[in-house]
Amino acid sequence: MTQKFTLKVDGHTHTVDVEPDMPLLYALRDDLGMRSPHFGCGLAQCGACTVHIDGQAVRSCVVPTSAAAGHEVVTLQGLGTPEKPHPIQQAYIDEQVPQCGYCIHGWMMTAAAFLKTNKNPTDAQIRTAMAGLKCRCGTHMAIIRAVKRAAKAMA
Ligand code: FES
Ligand code: FES
Repeated sequence: MTQKFTLKVDGHTHTVDVEPDMPLLYALRDDLGMRSPHFGCGLAQCGACTVHIDGQAVRSCVVPTSAAAGHEVVTLQGLGTPEKPHPIQQAYIDEQVPQCGYCIHGWMMTAAAFLKTNKNPTDAQIRTAMAGLKCRCGTHMAIIRAVKRAAKAMA
């Protein structure tokens, strides 16, 4: 049976009427019409659906909508704006990271959460933090450069 839940996403409050265990990703994409968190595997295996909940990077394909209700959800659209991009967004542009772009929500949201507590990460720390994310286009080296560039910009 469906229930009403209040979702706070990118600073806006929405009400959705869904099954409590429906994945947050479906609420974001299907009910709120958002297109930046992507469905990749639906099994917490690829990271394409990653969002922040209360500042933590989580895979929204396995988070029940009921568990996200009342918490602060941030997607890539809420991380920055075209006029004032988040440092990781600017670094992606500067390093020309994206190819098809399907995976970038996961990498950028994971990096943004990681950089809050890792101000000067080594390549090894970045690789560990990003373990489990998938990019079929093979942009991994450019991603590491972008994370390091963003860390410098945030220092
Ligand atoms: S779609 Fe969520 S981890 Fe792949
Ligand atoms: S840029 Fe295409 S999957 Fe990562």
